[in-house]
Amino acid sequence: MKRAQLRQFEEQVVTFIDERHRALGVEESGLLPYYVQRAEKKRAFTRYERGLLAHLETGTTIYHAGIGIGVLSAALALKGCRVIGFEEMPERAEAARALRDAVAQGTDYELREANFPGGLRADEPAGAATLLFTNVAGNWSDETYAGAFAAMKRFSRTILDLRLFGHTRNEPEERDELARRLEAMGHELRPLDLNCNNNFYVELTAR
Ligand SMILES: C[S@@+](CC[C@H](N)C(=O)[O-])C[C@H]1O[C@@H](n2cnc3c(N)ncnc32)[C@H](O)[C@@H]1O
Repeated sequence: MKRAQLRQFEEQVVTFIDERHRALGVEESGLLPYYVQRAEKKRAFTRYERGLLAHLETGTTIYHAGIGIGVLSAALALKGCRVIGFEEMPERAEAARALRDAVAQGTDYELREANFPGGLRADEPAGAATLLFTNVAGNWSDETYAGAFAAMKRFSRTILDLRLFGHTRNEPEERDELARRLEAMGHELRPLDLNCNNNFYVELTAR
């Protein structure tokens, strides 16, 4: 994505958030408070998201789990990736749909109001695809963890943030424990260089 196109996209996202916030308030808009705070600073992305946007190549098929309002998903679609986004919270999925229609029309971006991996079809992915988790920290049940771990085996690679996956892991020991668990399942873990500090993103490939 060219710098000017990225700047225009960010401006559009900031306007979208401002207007939606003013029209619907926080609860009904599906917006998380940090989206509003970012928009007040005229920013649409975190620096991790900027790094991911630069890292993921045009043409990649990306299954993005827990997209929120889908700022990164929309940007990836505009970059020329095929994106399938999953968001389980109805208000947020609705916000993601509205954002897509406002800023990423005509792109290959499918949005599923569904849990991941519940919304993944039995025959997916059909070919090489990347599974992406960006800040899906919440309060995952054992069942959700088991489903997410099983789904990873169907993808050629998975990208996730060891700090913000299922639960928040602020302590190094907690992140190491998750890394060991993933390695024990046959994944090779490589840190992902996103050109920013305090980055706990890793790339998982099959060993
Ligand atoms: C903290 S928010 C962050 C959203 C987005 N990744 C971002 O960085 O802006 C996490 C989102 O993931 C969604 N989510 C969490 N676990 C999910 C799952 N297993 N399937 C689908 N959505 C999920 C939540 O509803 C929430 O909107």
